Amino acid sequence: MKHKVSFELELKKHDYPGKFIVLEGIDAAGKTTHSFELVDKLKREGHKTVYTKEPTDGEIGRLIRQVLVENIKVPPVALQYLFCADRAVHQEKIISYLKKGHTVISDRYFWSAVAYGIADLSGVMDYYLTVYSVLSFYNQFISPDFTFFLDVEVDEAVRRIKKSHEHREIYDDRDKIIKIKDSYEKLINMFPEEFIVINANKPIDAVSKELLEQMRRKI
Ligand SMILES: Nc1ncnc2c1ncn2[C@@H]1O[C@H](COP(=O)(O)OP(=O)(O)O)[C@@H](O)[C@H]1O
Ligand SMILES: [Mg+2]
Repeated sequence: MKHKVSFELELKKHDYPGKFIVLEGIDAAGKTTHSFELVDKLKREGHKTVYTKEPTDGEIGRLIRQVLVENIKVPPVALQYLFCADRAVHQEKIISYLKKGHTVISDRYFWSAVAYGIADLSGVMDYYLTVYSVLSFYNQFISPDFTFFLDVEVDEAVRRIKKSHEHREIYDDRDKIIKIKDSYEKLINMFPEEFIVINANKPIDAVSKELLEQMRRKI
């Protein structure tokens, strides 16, 4: 039986005194490098700032990493539920800091899960249906004040991954990276007001400078 269902998606903004900033991007875009650096810079300027990430270091986050790193086969939707469960726990921590007026810098947040979810589900479901079904979880979560998308070319990301042997994140095969980048690009086109795109191909110092300038403009 066919049912026509439509819904509006409202990304929930918070009104806590702190600021919630997220860094997104494909593997080796520089999220961790720049999250640490931002935290450091803001702290030195006297702002109370905290670093956090997804998947978290909590029980559910560790389970997600195990599933991904060991390539355990689980249905993509199961992984999405795990990400949501991890985020539900993570959100309590984020909110507790925002209430105290901290700036919270998160190394990945829900857009990562959406981008990876789309990449996993593409071919299985219609694209828009996939986006909406994946995003339908997200009204439970506060959305960031700003999401910076570190935009790096796939070849540059692959060069960085090869160069830093210790750098092995969750998804590091080239075809997968191309798919993820494509998913992010589609999301940025669909939700342009949710992302601030930063050219992350430049040297670390130049990217830092641009990030900081953009932040000051916004905060
Ligand atoms: N702008 C850049 N130019 C050159 N190398 C970079 C740049 N940004 C990050 N790197 C290097 O690339 C690797 C991955 O960076 P990382 O911050 O861990 O990326 P992510 O957290 O997005 O996966 C690290 O070895 C880091 O030093
Ligand atoms: Mg990282």
